[in-house]
Amino acid sequence: MSLIAERRSAGVAANPPDASEFPSHPATWYLFGRSNELQRGPVSKAILQRRLVAYRTATGGVSVLDASCAHLGADLGRGTVVGDAIQCPFHHWRFSPTGACVSIPNQDSAPTTACVRSYPAVERHGYIFFFFGPRELFPLPFFSECDPAAMTASKPFRFEMDCPWYMLAANGFDTQHFHAVHDRKLKNTPRVDCPTRFARRMRFDAEVTGTSAYDRFLKRFVGREVQISITSWGGPHVLVEGVFGRAHSRLLVTSQPLDERRTLSEVIVFAKRSRNSIKAALVDRVNLRIRRRFTQAFMRYDIDKLAGVRYHPHGLTPQDR
Ligand code: FES
Ligand SMILES: [Fe+2]
Repeated sequence: MSLIAERRSAGVAANPPDASEFPSHPATWYLFGRSNELQRGPVSKAILQRRLVAYRTATGGVSVLDASCAHLGADLGRGTVVGDAIQCPFHHWRFSPTGACVSIPNQDSAPTTACVRSYPAVERHGYIFFFFGPRELFPLPFFSECDPAAMTASKPFRFEMDCPWYMLAANGFDTQHFHAVHDRKLKNTPRVDCPTRFARRMRFDAEVTGTSAYDRFLKRFVGREVQISITSWGGPHVLVEGVFGRAHSRLLVTSQPLDERRTLSEVIVFAKRSRNSIKAALVDRVNLRIRRRFTQAFMRYDIDKLAGVRYHPHGLTPQDR
């Protein structure tokens, strides 16, 4: 079956959509930051062209809200946590984790219209993720047949791309670039499917043909052939797996649109967690550092080549589709 026919059977339109059909901020999971950023209180950040605040409640949960106070717009990131609520620094209105205003000084009750938007939030591997929408359309994804508790995560590395978010997401499905950019020669026709309604996955086998120091090391010690699986959840949240003969690599590329032309991506690399806690402190750290270095080496070609890439649906060839 051709790639186009496979995509058609997977519910993917054969004709490329117009750029206007891509949402500016897709409904998916985004990275807010690291959990330890909340140690000193609420933190607000510019994300998805708005300001969001995250704070840890008295009961230990994490809440993500719009940071602009429903009263006069003060930054809730400069506020304080009171019980499970966040208190605005300006006139001390308090908002619950649902975003509802639960108290206003010297008033018996708060108007129901006084609320800020809240976002589903999940902590995993020391990171805070939030779903951009009033409710999550799917749980925070992870690799299939892989228990998150059995894995440990690296520090992220980040890069800003001069291309729209959907070109970065499409890069994972761009079969031509694997050979041209990454020196990965495809061994078979990529298989595209939808593991769930909100995910698109591509899988293929490839041979490492590069001659860089990293690729020479891979061929010699890790494996010359690799089974690659790339799954995009809602667009910008992409999980990548590579199964080599002697290693299994897993990474998350979580991106956020900065504007119509620029995208910020953060990459987190995963490795199996050691059961022994003393070993975990040393071996896991070194293991993650090596994997992160290889991932950076692999992705630096994307960072370089994607600069300035724009979407031209009428210029696509059947091979692109
Ligand atoms: S601006 Fe937040 S309570 Fe007034
Ligand atoms: Fe790539």
